[in-house]
Parts: sequence; structure tokens; C-alpha cells
Amino acid sequence: MDSLWRRWWRPHTLGQVTEATRDRYGQDQWWKSAVVYQIYPRSFADSNGDGIGDLPGITSRLDHLSALGVDVIWLSPVYPSPQDDNGYDISDYQGIDPTFGTLADFDELLAQVHARGMKLVMDLVVNHTSDEHPWFVESRSSTDNPKRDWYWWRGPREGMAAGDPGAEPTNWGSFFSGPTWELDAATGEYYLHLFSRKQPDLNWENPQVREAVYAMMRWWLDRGVDGFRMDVINMISKDTALPDGHQGPGAHHGDGSPHFLCGPRIHEFLQEMHAAVFAGRDGAFLTVGEMPGVTVDEARLFTDPARREVDMVFQFEHVGLDQGDSKWDVRPLDLRDLKASLGRWQAGLAESGWNSLYWNNHDQPRIVSRFGDDGEHRVTSATMLGTVLHLHRGTPYVYQGEELGMTNAPFASIEDFRDIESVNHYRAWVDPGHQSAEEVLAALRVMSRDNARTPMQWDESPHAGFTTGEPWIAVNPNHATVNAAAAVAEEGSVFHHYRRLIELRHKEPAVAHGDFHMLLPHDERVYAFTRRLEDVELLVLGNFSGEDAPADVPDAEAWAGSELLLGNLPDVPDTGPIVLRPWEARIYRRTS
Ligand code: NOJ
Repeated sequence: MDSLWRRWWRPHTLGQVTEATRDRYGQDQWWKSAVVYQIYPRSFADSNGDGIGDLPGITSRLDHLSALGVDVIWLSPVYPSPQDDNGYDISDYQGIDPTFGTLADFDELLAQVHARGMKLVMDLVVNHTSDEHPWFVESRSSTDNPKRDWYWWRGPREGMAAGDPGAEPTNWGSFFSGPTWELDAATGEYYLHLFSRKQPDLNWENPQVREAVYAMMRWWLDRGVDGFRMDVINMISKDTALPDGHQGPGAHHGDGSPHFLCGPRIHEFLQEMHAAVFAGRDGAFLTVGEMPGVTVDEARLFTDPARREVDMVFQFEHVGLDQGDSKWDVRPLDLRDLKASLGRWQAGLAESGWNSLYWNNHDQPRIVSRFGDDGEHRVTSATMLGTVLHLHRGTPYVYQGEELGMTNAPFASIEDFRDIESVNHYRAWVDPGHQSAEEVLAALRVMSRDNARTPMQWDESPHAGFTTGEPWIAVNPNHATVNAAAAVAEEGSVFHHYRRLIELRHKEPAVAHGDFHMLLPHDERVYAFTRRLEDVELLVLGNFSGEDAPADVPDAEAWAGSELLLGNLPDVPDTGPIVLRPWEARIYRRTS
């Protein structure tokens, strides 16, 4: 095995990072050669047997992340919360939910992360709070409460009475089904909630709201955290006229998104946040804005370092390519669309700005089940997908379990789901008879967020080593074979391939800093591109199919004889032409 392995991986040939390289790319953009690992605390590791993951559980598993080699941990929300949306509904921004532990547990986690040379980034959820946050409790208490204007309150539509069907101030539909407005019977007004009715939207037009958020962010930085992942941050500036949205035939609600995505003051707010929170502060921070619907041109503005807004954004184009009118309208992926989309983002942020790179997070189904083959070719397709993603220009994000090739889960019935989006969607479509239970379940099995939220598979024991109690959502039965202990023990595993990809980014400057050039845009099976930095050129190839596929790249025979930096299958011939085996990936390197 060992000699075979050396053939796949030749670390001795990697380029050296020189002092000149460091100087040229500067310390302040350290995240260009970093890899981020996302933890969904509820599902990572449970230390006290209550079936829910917690902070001491995370601390106890940090060595797994050190061994993987990641630089930054992004922690999904751990703040006090009624857990309507698993913590994305926050009732106290400056505490820890007892389910997850205490502030002392948090400080210990942070210290242990730093002791291992990693950084910790918090989730910042400030488009909305929980309806149980004291700010909202005050705001809803009367129409003249000083905090009334901290949220979006409106009377019924003109000529209608509060509570009449269709009397909501706009026709917008919520992301979690139903209207975006909830009537508060006591004051006779509606409040806006783009997500669940327990997630009222904050009114960023009010300067007191903004200053309260900035003060809270400074408090976490003073505590030692290293930055923020900003939840749906491009929704904080709304068109204050709140116009109706377009409502297509058959649609239950109008589409309000043109009136709240990247709204009129979004750049002003982010620049103000940067000045109020980060300017003049010592340290190496990371900010990433989650931005559904963001365009390349807007992203270039958001991430242009000279504008001081955010370091990078999460865009959603590539994870919408297998969907039609809604996320539940599932279509097969056409690889040419994926190349066109990611290629446009690479080109658009080449000169100014920066990309984040991801396949997975807590809102997306598992990538090996989605764009790969989670059966016979699970390991090969997972490692191919990792290779293609990590070799793009940008900062890669690994979602917990992705490094094990974890798959979607075999949900049998609606009772197996926990996610508010999935459960609400089922109720909204099955109860009134718009679709059959089986039709809705078929889409949920493919796209539900719960696919990402089943417990982390640590070992083959009954609850996968996640908990000694009853897990809050069932463990995937394939943990008997797909688990961290088995992956760490096996050199050809997804874990070790991801470890090598991360190491490659750290050691080979062309991976972090090289330019990007897409090849074979019309090929339906082979993803191919080059990266170049000065005299170093890399060729990256991935076969997105279960058949042999020739890679007809320019200069193929010469590339075949060049240095193979990393591949995911043994016995790669070193003479051309290049024919990729099912789900095979290769990275070649040459100098000129
Ligand atoms: C985006 C988060 O990633 C998702 O999990 C959450 O439900 C919504 N924002 C609302 O906070």
C-alpha cells in the first residue's frame, strides 16, 4: 500500500513558499491560502449524552481537525435560542445556549483552537433575531415602545382589516413557506419575517440597531474570536417602500427578493460595519458574507479590498443548477452549466475581489450524493469533487463529514425530518393536496437540509460515536462503514485525500495565488482547468461520470509525462493520451 501511495502523492516535488512570495501576497490576506472547516454544533459531538452536540464535544474532537490540517473553524450558532431554526433564531447575542454549554466552555474551546494554531469564526445572524429576543419582546409590547422601530411593523393593506385574507402589507412569500408577515393581535400590526414567524427581521434603517450589532461584534472580538460568517447579510437593506413582488401564475405568494436582496444601502451598511468593528483593530480576521442571489458584479464590489466591506461572499449559483423553479424542483446537473457558472465567478473576481469555494454546508444536501456517486464509486467521486473544488482560486470550505465522504440519509417518512424548512414545505403542499406525500418526500430526500445535519460519523458504534444518548436526528446507518476512525486508518480514504489537498494549498503557491483558465467548456464529462503562477503551471482534471472519459486538453501527451502531484486512483500511466477512469481526478504540475 505504501509504495502505491507514494506513486499518487509526491510531496518532495512541491514548490517552496519563499519569503518573496509571502511579501508579495501580504499578511493581511492570509485567508487566501487558508481552508475553513464548518461545524454544525448540534450534530458534531455530544459530551453529555443528551443527544445534542455541544461545545465540550467539539473541544474533545479538535485533534481530528488538526490532523486534517484546516486553518479556520466556522461555528454555526451556539447562542441562546428557542431553536426554531436550530439556532439561527437568536434570543441573546452575548451568551451560549445551555444545550451547547456555557461561556466558560466557549472560552476553553477558543483557547484550545488557538493552541492548535487554528482560528475560530462565529456565525453572525443579524438580519433577524428570535421573537423571544428582549429587543423584539419590547418592540411588540406597544406601538409607541422606543424599540418599535427596531423591526418592520406595518398596518394591513389599504382598504382591508388586519387579519383579512390577503391583508398582509406585501404579497411576499417566506423562505419557510407562508407569507412573510405575521399579525400581532395585541397591536393590530404585522411584523416582517423573511424566514420563520419566530425570526422577525431587524430594521437596519434605524441607527440604534446598527450600533447595537456593532457593539456585540466588538464584544466577541474582544473575547478573542477571529471573525464572522454573516448570515444572509445581503438582506439587511430593504426597499423601504416595501413594494409587492411579482407573482407568477399558480404561485402562492409574490417574490419579494428584488426588494430585499442587495438593497439600496447594503454597501453603506457593510462599510459602516467594517469601520465600526474592524478598523484599527490588531489581528488577522476573516469575514464572509452569505449572499443568496448575489451577482458576480456585486460580489466584486463586496470583496474589493479597497472598499473595506467583506473578505469574500458565499454565492449560490452553482448549487442551484440542479433545480428548476424552486429548490424542490430537482433536475439532473449538466456539467457544462457548472463549468460556465464557476468559470464566470473565477473570471469575474480574478483581478479584484476573492471567491469562497464550497460544495456543502448545513443547508445543502451532501455533495457525493448530489454531483457524485454515493454507491460503488463513493470514495473516488468524493475525492474527485474535493480535488476540483480545492484547486479553484478562492478559499475552500469543508463542511463536517465532507472529509469522510458522508452521504445523504435514507429518510423513510416525514417523521424522520427535523428541519423547519422541510417540515413546513411538506405541510404547505401535502395538507391542502397540492402534491402527494410521496412526491414531496421524493424531493425532500434529495434536497432537504437534514441530509447535511445527521450526526457526524466518528466510528462504527451504535450512534456512530456521536452520543451515548438518543440522537436528536437519526444517525445514517452507513456509519458502519463510513466513519472517521475507518477513514483515518485507510490511506486511500476521502479523509487523507482532503488532508493532502489542504497541504497542497499550503505548500504550492500556485494553488492559492495562481490565475485560472477553464478548458473544455463543452465537454459533458470532464472538468478541466489550468492554474499558473509565474513559471509554475498546474493542470487539474476531474471525470464527472462513471465511464472512461478522454481528456482532450491542449498538449495532453506532454502533460501526461509531467509530474503527477496528486490523483485519486493508483497506476496512472505516464504517457498520453489521457483517459480518465470513472470519477478519476488528477493534478499535474510543470514549470516553463
Ligand atoms: C441562512 C442559514 O444558513 C440557514 O440555515 C438559516 O435557516 C437562514 N439563513 C435563516 O437564518
